[in-house]
Parts: sequence; structure tokens; C-alpha cells
Amino acid sequence: MYHILAIDDDLNFLDDLSSLLKFHNYVTRGINNPHKALSLLNKDKFHCVLLDVQMPGMDGISLLEQIKEKHPTIPVIMISGQSTLAIAVKAIKQGAFDFLEKGADLDRLLITLKNAIAHYNWLKERRLLINELLENYQMIGQSKAMQQIFNQIDFVAPTDSKVLITGETGTGKELIARAIQLKSNRSTRPFVRINCAAIPETLIESVFFGHKKGSFTGAIKDQPGKFELADGGTLFLDEIGELPLYAQAKLLNVLQDGEIEKIGAPKTQKVDVRIIAATNKDLMTMIKEKKFREDLFHRLNVFHIHVPPLRERIDDVPPLVEHYIKHYANELNKKIVGISPAGMNILVQYDWPGNVRMLRNVVSRAVMFAQGNIISEGEVSLALDMDRYQPLFTQNTMTLAEFLEFQERQFLRQMLILCNGNKQQMAQRLGVDRATLWRKLKRYNLSMADEQS
Ligand SMILES: Nc1ncnc2c1ncn2[C@@H]1O[C@H](COP(=O)(O)OP(=O)(O)OP(=O)(O)O)[C@@H](O)[C@H]1O
Ligand SMILES: [Mg+2]
Repeated sequence: MYHILAIDDDLNFLDDLSSLLKFHNYVTRGINNPHKALSLLNKDKFHCVLLDVQMPGMDGISLLEQIKEKHPTIPVIMISGQSTLAIAVKAIKQGAFDFLEKGADLDRLLITLKNAIAHYNWLKERRLLINELLENYQMIGQSKAMQQIFNQIDFVAPTDSKVLITGETGTGKELIARAIQLKSNRSTRPFVRINCAAIPETLIESVFFGHKKGSFTGAIKDQPGKFELADGGTLFLDEIGELPLYAQAKLLNVLQDGEIEKIGAPKTQKVDVRIIAATNKDLMTMIKEKKFREDLFHRLNVFHIHVPPLRERIDDVPPLVEHYIKHYANELNKKIVGISPAGMNILVQYDWPGNVRMLRNVVSRAVMFAQGNIISEGEVSLALDMDRYQPLFTQNTMTLAEFLEFQERQFLRQMLILCNGNKQQMAQRLGVDRATLWRKLKRYNLSMADEQS
């Protein structure tokens, strides 16, 4: 149901209008005092304003100006008894959505209203999307190292220079690549990412440069390559250290000539693509081991951004933690206002092998576990434990017995926190007797004192 605010000194007109619009499913609030309009707009939600041009005590155009200043997204349709072209032009210039004559037929009014509200909804949706995008790409960092990286981004973005971004896994290399794109002159052009580690070797050439139909078995239609898709924009070569030597040679050729050779195409094709590459590998060592071409390295490494690991910039931990608490509390609809000092301390002292990605995961889990509105020390260590043991799982260095023990300990610990240390409640929820519970807690050296902040 859409709500309309109609402002007119003619009460009869307002009555007629309300009943007409009610018939078309609009809720209309009519007022004949223009001075009240602004306070009503501040207080209640309206999707559109219908505004008389001439009223005693205030002229509609100046009210329009004030409404637009305070509520720029609400569309205002001007309605006038005796309109002149000059007033209509003035109203549109001041941001009116449209200008109608009082005698205009109802259909015209209804269509204008519908368009105005559609426009309002579109603006609102667009704002939400932009905010979401900005939040997703927002980079947090107050350490000297991050401040320097922000400067480097601002410096290199507007140039067309190639950029090489290095740093451990999860340090934010992709985020930096996107920030460079967003701040560049190519921001409205495509940003195309290639994950060099994920393409099977036999398909690399086709993925990079595309192919013509019938150029090899399985090429059932023309397929553009990533270079072509990124034309005019930015191509992000992620995990460049994983590119096989054979593909490195192909890539080098393109970077030298600015031309791509589509598989099966008779001619080469010029492309205008800005290259940003990233890797967590040590390319210098790879060059020495003859796994990465030195000439390609120099082509890519025109401007180098190195992101230090999180443990070397612990100043960034607290603002990142706060940022992601807000983010996940919002996402999970929980009222969490922060983290206990002891909990934060654990996070600051941790050495973060998985860097910001890991911190983000740990915070998301801590928010999930949190019982109160402040994340406790126990909830933090619980969340951290799950990540800490992750490498043991993935490297398969655990026996089954160790795994089961680990799982049991985790579960008991979680329950201990959930039941706030109440053993009776805990035994009940777990379906074991108190003696068994007591034995298990002793075995795993678990007590509520360790879990509290
Ligand atoms: N400075 C930062 N501020 C906020 N979030 C960040 C920051 N750095 C990284 N992140 C977040 O951490 C996660 C990992 O970042 P990203 O994917 O850019 O890392 P990466 O260096 O490309 O990692 P990998 O080498 O594993 O590909 C993302 O969710 C990203 O939003
Ligand atoms: Mg990455």
C-alpha cells in the first residue's frame, strides 16, 4: 500500500482526491496547511507528494525546494489551477517529478503517480545495492602499512599501469585489485577475474583468448576469451604464480603486442586491457627455480603493492573485529554491541595464519555463538579453536580417535558456554548422567572459569 501526501488549500479538492485514490489502492493524507507538510514528512513515511503550486501563506515552489532539500528521494508532483509554462519549468528545475494541471484527467494523474513511485522504488533499491557494494569492498586499516597501501592505490588507480599485488593468503589482494578498478578511469568498464589456479591446462588458451566454433572438438560455438570480455576495462589475473610455463609464454606475447590470437580465428585482434595480477607465491624464488619467467615478471611488476600479513600490523585487528562484529550481528539479526577486552586481547595476540579471511570467519562464528550482547572471551576462544584445528583436518594429520576426541571436546565446550556452566542442565541436554559429564569435563580439562571473560 502506497502512502501519498497531498497538500492543497482547497479542502473539497483534497476530499475528492482521497476518495479517488483510495479506489485505486492509495492511502492519501490531505492537508491544507503547507507549514505542517515538512513535520509530517519527517514523522511519517510517504511514497509521493502531490503539491499545489499556489496556496495562501506559502508558495508551492518554495515548499518544493524545502521538501527536496530534506527528502531528496521522495518524488513531488506539482498540481496547479492556473499554470503557466514558466512556473512549470521552474518546478521541474527545482526537482519536481512532473507538473499536472488541476483539470487533467484522472488517468494522467494515475500514470504519473505510478511512474513517480516506480522511480522512488528504483532509487531506493539502487542506493541499497550501492551501499552493499561499498560495504563488501570496504577496506579497513589504520596501521601504517595499510595507510601506505591506501596511498599506493590512490596513486596508481588513475594511471593505466600494470600492478602486481603480493601477500599471504587472505590479506586482501583481491579487495585491493577491486579498489584500484573502482578508483580508475575504467570504473564503469568491466572487471574480469581469471583464477589462474582453477583452469585446466588444456583450456587456458581458450579461456584467455576465446575460440571460434569448430576450431577444436568440443568448440560448438564461438566463445569470447576473458581478454575480449575485459576490453576497455581491467583484467585481474589472480593466483598468477599458478600459471603453467607454457601459458606464461602466451601471456607474455599478448602483453608485448596488445593483440590476442583467438583459437581458430584468421587474424589477431587488438585489445585495450589493464592488467592487475596477484599471487601469494614468492615469485623471486620461482624465477630461480625456473618455474616463473623472469621477463613476464618484469612486465607485470610495473607497480608493486605488497600486503603484509595481519600479524605484522596488529593495529588493524581491533577495527577489523569491530567492523565484522557489526556486519555479522546485522546479518544474523543479533543485538551485539561489542567484544570483551579479554576476548579482543586473544584476537590481537593471535598470529592469524589465514589473515583477514580467517579473522572474518572467526568473528562470524563468535557472533553466532554469542549469548549476550558482548562477545565473551570463552566465545572467542571457541570460535578460534574451530579454525585453529582446521589445518589438522585438511592436512589429514589426525587419527580417527584424535578427531573424535577433538569433536567431543569442542562440543562439550560449546555446551558449557551455552548452559552457562550449569552442569545439571548440561547433563540433561546431553542425555548423560552427571558423573559421566564430570568425568568428561575433567578429562578434557574444561571448566567454566576458563570460558568466562
Ligand atoms: N583491509 C580489509 N578490510 C576489510 N576486509 C578485508 C580486508 N582485507 C581483506 N578483507 C576480507 O578478507 C577476505 C579475504 O580477502 P581477499 O579475497 O581480498 O584476500 P586475498 O589476498 O585475495 O586471498 P587469497 O590469496 O587467498 O586469494 C575477504 O572477505 C575480504 O573482504
Ligand atoms: Mg585472492
